[in-house]
Amino acid sequence: MTDDKPTVGYVSSTERFQPRITPTPDRLKGKIALVTGSGRGIGKATALRFAQEGADIAVTDKDLEPARQVAAEVRELGPRALAFQTDVTDPQAVERTLRDAVKEFAGIDILVNNAGIVVFGSLMDCRLEDWDKMLAVDLTGAFHCTQMVGKLMIRQGRGGRMIHIGSTASLLPTAQQGAYCVAKAGLAMISKMAAMELVGYGVTSNLLCPEGAVTDINRDLLRDPAVMSKLEAMIPAGRMAHVEEIAAAAAFLASDEAAYITGAELVHDGGATISALWWR
Ligand SMILES: NC(=O)c1ccc[n+]([C@@H]2O[C@H](COP(=O)([O-])OP(=O)(O)OC[C@H]3O[C@@H](n4cnc5c(N)ncnc54)[C@H](O)[C@@H]3O)[C@@H](O)[C@H]2O)c1
Repeated sequence: MTDDKPTVGYVSSTERFQPRITPTPDRLKGKIALVTGSGRGIGKATALRFAQEGADIAVTDKDLEPARQVAAEVRELGPRALAFQTDVTDPQAVERTLRDAVKEFAGIDILVNNAGIVVFGSLMDCRLEDWDKMLAVDLTGAFHCTQMVGKLMIRQGRGGRMIHIGSTASLLPTAQQGAYCVAKAGLAMISKMAAMELVGYGVTSNLLCPEGAVTDINRDLLRDPAVMSKLEAMIPAGRMAHVEEIAAAAAFLASDEAAYITGAELVHDGGATISALWWR
């Protein structure tokens, strides 16, 4: 991706764009949300957005310190928050977190399956250990959380919301993201299965599919202006998203207003996935 570089002096249009973000006060008041991988990036932005709308937050991450910091930021906004060190690949850790969160908060109303990693590389060259690592976090980790929280929501009998952070890679093959695409496509089906199995309990389950935002998952790659400029040129909107924009979409799906939306894929990509045949 580094051929025709406009690199020197390139100013990213993503950086230049400042989204107007206006949380809806009290839209999530009285709700309790558990967000996996919320120590950083999209998960952190989602936890903070939900808190701005009044939700109490179980901030969970495999790394405790960033989770603690986010929990402190949530408390500064007003709602209650607790930090949990939870590796989603470990079902016992997920179970422990749920037990403690339920004890502390009296239930869970919203699950955001956000924790994720990316292993770059083609499917043809993917080593088994990378494949296993990739699927363990983005697919099996989400399975543990969906299953345990789903059963909890059934027992609670007060409905619920599941938002799974997929990707445009859930929908389309993406170069050099072989195992990632497979994991995210599997997550799309987890979302739809949960939608069908839980609809009778008032629980919705939807997949949110970002194309991209600059976070720790891709920061090193996107630091190269040649890569960033190429990516921005590929997206009809001409820029990547900001994490706060993705969080805003998650907040809508988490709200009462989205009660009739289930099994859906909310594509959040500046037009990227529909543009394959668009001559530009
Ligand atoms: N940033 C993007 O461009 C982009 C695009 C599409 C989809 N996504 C998806 O969004 C989600 C969040 O990614 P991000 O960009 O914020 O990345 P990030 O690296 O900033 O944040 C991911 C968080 O998940 C945590 N995590 C990783 N493995 C974990 C595990 N086993 N258990 C618990 N927590 C774990 C990390 O500690 C980190 O805090 C991922 O599922 C990712 O695939 C990101």
